[in-house]
Amino acid sequence: MTVFKTTHRQQPFMKPDRKPMQGMPKLTDNEAYLKVAMPKGRIFEEAVELFRRADYPLPPAFEQSRKLILDVPEAHMSFILAKPADVPTYVEYGVADIGVVGKDVLLEEGRDVYELLDLQISRCHMAIAGLPDWQPTLYPRVATKFPHVASTYFRQKGQQVEVIKLNGSIELAPIVGLADRIVDIVSTGRTLKENGLVELEKMMDISSRLIANRVSFRMRSEQIEALVNRLSQVIPTGGNEG
Ligand code: PRP
Repeated sequence: MTVFKTTHRQQPFMKPDRKPMQGMPKLTDNEAYLKVAMPKGRIFEEAVELFRRADYPLPPAFEQSRKLILDVPEAHMSFILAKPADVPTYVEYGVADIGVVGKDVLLEEGRDVYELLDLQISRCHMAIAGLPDWQPTLYPRVATKFPHVASTYFRQKGQQVEVIKLNGSIELAPIVGLADRIVDIVSTGRTLKENGLVELEKMMDISSRLIANRVSFRMRSEQIEALVNRLSQVIPTGGNEG
């Protein structure tokens, strides 16, 4: 395990409010904080609300801040605000101990992290969509933000497609003739409707997940388990209606 020797995670777990035991290296306040990667954007507010319901005292100004690292000493937590697609990267590399991320991103990024909990927030689904008069072609082009997920899906169905990676506004692609179909997230269905597209096939339900770095999960098990228990008690109930 020499690979972890230079990081704080190798130090024995110690409650931040406890005096260090003799012979145990002292953690600074900042090192004792649990580092949480949060996705900026639509998941963020729901995730913050969930943490508050679980009695983590996130200050009222939390959502308005433009700072990218927000310490909450009362909760012994430090929040890293990242692009949603980057959250699993921060967690895999141990910059964050845990993170909140959509299942869509988790599947697409394929990072080496533990998935701990379905938070049941930001529920939606991934679907194939296109123009209502779409006709099957021999080698259709599919535009998506999720090329890995889309390629795997069509390969498993034995369908040959050309996957075109876009970074957003996916619904544009069939309208302007870039692609025959799209693979995208559908939440309310409004974007599809307002752009004259129809859902052709539902692929999978999506919701946000709590993920953990593999080493942090062992070294900070007490903090992480406490968080999982508290969040579990306030997770919204009911099936995925996305
Ligand atoms: C997502 C998704 C759809 C839209 C679906 O895009 O890619 O475009 O939301 O939501 P709806 O069903 O409620 O209309 P996002 O807003 O994340 O922006 P993007 O187009 O830049 O990906």
